[in-house]
Amino acid sequence: MKQPPALQSPAFLNLMQWIIQPLDLLEYGAKQYGDCFSIRFSKLPPLSFFSHPQAIEQMFTAGASQFDSGRGNWILRTTLGDNSLLLLDGERHQRQRQLLMPPFHGERMRAYGQLIGQITDRVISNWQVGNPFALRPYTQEISLRVILRAVFGLDEGERYEAIKQRLEALLRVTASRFGFATSFFPVLQRDFGAWSPGGRFIRFKQQIDQLLYAEIQDRRNHPDPNRSDILSLLLAARDEAGQSMTDEELRDELITLLLAGHETTATAIAWAVYWIHQIPTIKTKLLAELETLGNEFEPMAIARLPYLNAICSETLRIYPVAFIAQIRITKTPVEVMGFSFEPENYLVPCVYLTHHREDLYPDSKQFKPERFLERQFSPFEYLPFGGSNRRCIGAAFALFEMKLVLATILSRYQLALADARPVIPIRRGVTIAPKGGVNMIVTDRFPSPHSSQTTPISV
Ligand code: HEM
Repeated sequence: MKQPPALQSPAFLNLMQWIIQPLDLLEYGAKQYGDCFSIRFSKLPPLSFFSHPQAIEQMFTAGASQFDSGRGNWILRTTLGDNSLLLLDGERHQRQRQLLMPPFHGERMRAYGQLIGQITDRVISNWQVGNPFALRPYTQEISLRVILRAVFGLDEGERYEAIKQRLEALLRVTASRFGFATSFFPVLQRDFGAWSPGGRFIRFKQQIDQLLYAEIQDRRNHPDPNRSDILSLLLAARDEAGQSMTDEELRDELITLLLAGHETTATAIAWAVYWIHQIPTIKTKLLAELETLGNEFEPMAIARLPYLNAICSETLRIYPVAFIAQIRITKTPVEVMGFSFEPENYLVPCVYLTHHREDLYPDSKQFKPERFLERQFSPFEYLPFGGSNRRCIGAAFALFEMKLVLATILSRYQLALADARPVIPIRRGVTIAPKGGVNMIVTDRFPSPHSSQTTPISV
């Protein structure tokens, strides 16, 4: 049986590099062995990485009977819980997906358009000409407020503020490279007191759980049929036996949406602002395109702009925030690209390496939105949101949000990069983010199309 070639370096060293600079490790593997190779990480089974569109197609079209993924996300269990969509497999996974998808698509999604513009406007309204600042905390504030609104239907109030603050605190612990490393070393997760990383994590998590359970209880006690937020939808859902979701199931799904639904989008927007300002011709073209819309904030007109769309696509190609899709664990013997895998083998669709294939994306290290205007890529060549029955449920929502936030920022401010040096990607939890958070400086400001509702939000 033919097995993929394996990196020869010791498992512990591979793990360290995976934690510190995963993209370098992936590039090294691709340079040595090409389209498919495996890496051993400590005691875990080896992971086989694929970047050929044919292999991606085989994995994405195989169906849920051949692969599990939820079990492979054990690293997220302590934060998200056993009932999270990300941890589920099989029928339960399929049922939860069907429940969670609609609010992030179609009319339900479009209804958030004006709100995204208004939230962005409030969050960025205090930027001052001449003051340098790191952009990512602002994009995080925006995307966190947007997802909280979608999930709870609220963006004000004591409990809402408390949930937001605790989520931010939890992320400060988990999003660092050290936080990610603790997943592999259980001793680091232990509670050695309120100042230890494990202790802080446990306390923030307990506080968030208390707040979420209190909100769930309030909603159960005072049902409101007019509410259309996601929590109301989940509370009303019944399975085929007529059972509603338990409090624990609700909590796990809420925290999954809150975390998966804002970290990634915040990073993607920060990267996009960086690229737009790194290459002056791109900014000029984009501003010209935005000008064709006049002064009105029309979410659907913005979402349809071709050059803005190409910029967002290229942003998610060059440094895909989720640089690998979820692990596909074989349930039956499977053959991919001529390699044979027994059950319980771990296969990984590698987003980053597929997006840097020179045969698909010539000069792949260069940011060129025009690629997406010149040709269409198949879902096996371009996969920032993964694919198959595990494809990101928030893909359309994230792209919509990215475009509206970018259009709002660019119509309100003239910005420049505060530092001319290239920004490099670093690990941020399970994602890849711009090191330093992209330092910008305001060079001019313009009036807001939302000025009547604008109360500043401090970050
Ligand atoms: C730019 C922003 C985002 C990126 C790059 C991104 C990327 C991804 C990727 C690559 C996957 C794994 C797909 C696979 O394994 O095939 C995923 C899954 C997922 N994403 Fe996103 N995502 C983004 C935004 C969002 C948003 C806004 C939400 C909230 C609604 C969300 C919720 C989820 C969930 C719940 C899953 C698990 C799906 C499942 O296992 O069935 N993501 N995302």
